[in-house]
Amino acid sequence: MEIASATYIEEKLKAPVPVESCRFHFPLLRRQVNGKPLIYFDNAATSQKPQVVIDAIMRFYHEENSNIHRGVHYLSTKATEAYEEARVKAQKFINARSIEEVIYVRGTTEAINLVAATYGRKNVNEGDEVLISAMEHHSNIVPWQILCEEKKAILRVIPMNDDGELLLDEYDRLLNDRTKMVCLAHISNALGTINPVKRMIATARARGIPVLIDGAQALPHIKVDMQDLDCDFYAFSSHKMFGPTGVGVLYGKKELLSAMPPYQGGGDMIKSVTFEKTAYNDLPYKFEAGTPNIEGAIGLGAAIDYMKRMDLDAVAAYEHELLTYATTQLLEISGLRIIGTAKEKASVISFVLEGIHPHDIGTILDYEGIAIRTGHHCAQPVMQRFGVPATARASFAFYNTKEEVDVLVKAIHKVKEVLG
Ligand code: ALA
Repeated sequence: MEIASATYIEEKLKAPVPVESCRFHFPLLRRQVNGKPLIYFDNAATSQKPQVVIDAIMRFYHEENSNIHRGVHYLSTKATEAYEEARVKAQKFINARSIEEVIYVRGTTEAINLVAATYGRKNVNEGDEVLISAMEHHSNIVPWQILCEEKKAILRVIPMNDDGELLLDEYDRLLNDRTKMVCLAHISNALGTINPVKRMIATARARGIPVLIDGAQALPHIKVDMQDLDCDFYAFSSHKMFGPTGVGVLYGKKELLSAMPPYQGGGDMIKSVTFEKTAYNDLPYKFEAGTPNIEGAIGLGAAIDYMKRMDLDAVAAYEHELLTYATTQLLEISGLRIIGTAKEKASVISFVLEGIHPHDIGTILDYEGIAIRTGHHCAQPVMQRFGVPATARASFAFYNTKEEVDVLVKAIHKVKEVLG
C-alpha cells in the first residue's frame, strides 16, 4: 500500500469538507456486513476514522517512528515535534489558554481517574461531598465512589425528570459548603441529553466549587470552548471524535494542575531524581509518565484538522435534522418507546420495543448490516431510573444519512414481525 506523504496530507487537510460529502472520506463506511451495505449507528461507542487520520498514523510508522522527548537524533526530534504540534491543535480546538492546560491521557476514563486520584485525594476529606448527576457514565461515577469510600466522603446525585433532564432547582439545593467537587456529563451517552453545563458551572464556581465536565460525547457534535465554559477540568477521548483509540485529553486550569500532586511516577514526569527526592516536571509533562501513545496523539491532531475543515455549526444543524427525522419515524412504530426525550438532545436515540429484549433487536439489525449498541451503555443507574434492563441505541454522526434511517426503521418492523 502506498503511504501518503506529509505534503499530500497537509494539502488534503486544508480543503473544506462539506457535510454532504464527508462520508466518502471514511473508508470503512464502504464495506458490507452480512452481505448488506454497512449502516454504522454506533457512533457514541466509537466513531469511524477518515482516511487522513489513517494516513497520518501510517506515515508516522513508515517515516518518523521514534520515542519523544528523549533523543537528539533526527527521528526523535520529528516525532517530538509531531506529538507536540498535535497538543497545540488540541489546545486551539478547545480554546484552552496554553498547552500547559492540555494533558494527554488514555481517554476520558483515565482523565477522570486522574483528577479523582490527585485533586480529589488532596482536597476531599471526611464528611465532604462530591456531586454528580443521575445520568453519568460509570467512568464519572466509580472513580468518585472509590474516592468517597477512601475518604469517608459522601457522593450526592442530582436527579433528573422523566425526559432525562437534570432538575436544576435540586442541583442548586444540593450545592453546599461541604461540596468539594461537581462532576457532570456535557452530553449523556445513554440519553443524548445536552446538559446546561455553562449555567451549572457558573452556579458551582460562584460558590468556589470546582467543576469537571465529561465531554466524551460532546466533542464529536458541538463546539466546546474552555474559556467560555470556565470549567476547571474537561475530559474527552480521541476515538469518539474521529481519531484513534487509546488517547484523549484532560484539560485543567493551570492553577489547579500546578497545585495537584502527580498521578503516576516514571520517566518524563520528572526534572531530577535522586534516591532521596524527585523534582517533578513542568506542566503538562508532570502528568505524563512513561512513553505515551505517540501515534495516537498524532492521529488525534489529524482528526482535529479534519474537524476544523468542517463547518461545525452546519454539522450540528445536520445532525439535529437527522435526529428529528429518525425520532419522528421511530415514534410511529407501535410499542417503541424512546428513553431520553430532553428538549436539548444530541443525535443519540435510546429505545425499547415492547416485549422484545434489546439484544435481540441488535442481533436482527446486525443481520441487516446495521450496527447499533444494546445494553446498559455503561450507565446502569440510568437504566434503573427508567425501569428498563437495557436499551437499543442508535447514535448518529455527520456521515450518516436519512436513507440509512429509513433502512433502520424498516429493519425494526422486521424485528417486530420476527419476534413481536
Ligand atoms: N461510552 C461508550 C458508549 O456509550 C463506550 O457506548
